Amino acid sequence: MLLKDCRIVDSMGVATADILVEGETVKEVKKDIPARGEEVLNLKGAVVIPGLVDCHVHMRDFQEKKKETFRTGSRAALAGGVTAFLDMPNTDPPVVDGDTFARRVEAASKQSFCDFGINYGLTGESLGRMGRARPAAVKVYMDGSLGPVDRETMKSALESGHRVAFHAEDGEMLRRNLEYLRKEEGDDFLIHGDLREPKAELSAVKTVCELSLETGRPAHVCHVSYRKSLALLGELQTFEVTPHHLLLTETQLREMKGFAKTNPPLRSPLDVQALWGALKAGRVPVIASDHAPHTLSEKEAGPLEAPSGIPGLDTMLRLLLTLVSKRTLSLHDVVRMAAENPAAIFGLKSKGRLAPGMDADILVLDMKEEGRIDVDEFHSKARYSPFDGWKTVGAVRSVFLRGRLAYDDGDFLVRPGYGRFIPGQGPRAPPRPGR
Ligand code: DOR
Ligand code: ZN
Repeated sequence: MLLKDCRIVDSMGVATADILVEGETVKEVKKDIPARGEEVLNLKGAVVIPGLVDCHVHMRDFQEKKKETFRTGSRAALAGGVTAFLDMPNTDPPVVDGDTFARRVEAASKQSFCDFGINYGLTGESLGRMGRARPAAVKVYMDGSLGPVDRETMKSALESGHRVAFHAEDGEMLRRNLEYLRKEEGDDFLIHGDLREPKAELSAVKTVCELSLETGRPAHVCHVSYRKSLALLGELQTFEVTPHHLLLTETQLREMKGFAKTNPPLRSPLDVQALWGALKAGRVPVIASDHAPHTLSEKEAGPLEAPSGIPGLDTMLRLLLTLVSKRTLSLHDVVRMAAENPAAIFGLKSKGRLAPGMDADILVLDMKEEGRIDVDEFHSKARYSPFDGWKTVGAVRSVFLRGRLAYDDGDFLVRPGYGRFIPGQGPRAPPRPGR
């Protein structure tokens, strides 16, 4: 297949060129590639970027199909321009042993519309039970979601050579806070911000940085929300921010209650400003959705009972393109933070860039299309969003996944199960002194 007249945007620049696709991969990207009998599609100058790599999604499934399945979640992904995602292990049952990992791969392989990697959860014993699992990363829930994890265990995870991603909130602090806040629960959702106070994030980020430096290993911090966390993160650590932490504050938590409840919580305008400061300075490596679907009735519960999580796959790229239309962000930034960097950090070697030899995961965008976010149009089962009703500019027109037109103008042209498992790269060699 030959895609003619593409306006290709990546982190470095923009070029008008043709893309020759052979089978599942990009063969050549160049001006004026002559057609040699293959199918030709003239994009007439449409903007083209690589498929997004969302390194933080919760597809649920298993015992939580009422919240989301690989099928519904990956539809939202594909329609939202995400051609590869990394699934989180805080499932029911959790992915903390080799057999469950294999069952996760099997479930996703049968249902997913797009490509995927699977993360493996860290508990006191789980590293020794990995068996033949090939996770994209080991995920550490420092908030205790998968049970307590001590410093030594986290250190072993880093030393194992696997990529390690941290949910950085100090579980011990949260537990102490909960003890006295329980007595004060009223109907103000700001209590959630007190429970998961910024200091709990800061303390955990500090631990991650120490362990990363002690071991000489890179570490990835998920969904950074607090301004002071930014100051701690150094060269050896990467991190992500979410669209909701960039665009919303605790005011939305107070007003939209459970529907804006997420971990870490939405923060103050000062924090949002600081995240934007880092982003504008080119210091934010990754934007990820932290797609975390729940049911409507669960989200209608009280401040301490409602589960945390905002669905993000249906909205992430539309929100980012809207920021591009306002010149708050450049499309180069979007490609860097939502495709190139996450692919590089998590070892998805054939994803994130449009270059010879890479998977032909290609988004054709309409940069001008005006719309409005409407939860009733979500592909995710989670039909709620703090962004419901927001006006948007820019949309995904078509998505090619490994050379196949997979999504076009609202139609899904591949079957569930077209998505393919991307095994993790496995342990990396220990760092060598002097390098
Ligand atoms: O808000 C969140 N929801 N944060 C998490 O870390 C977990 C997630 C979930 O699984 O619902
Ligand atoms: Zn998450």
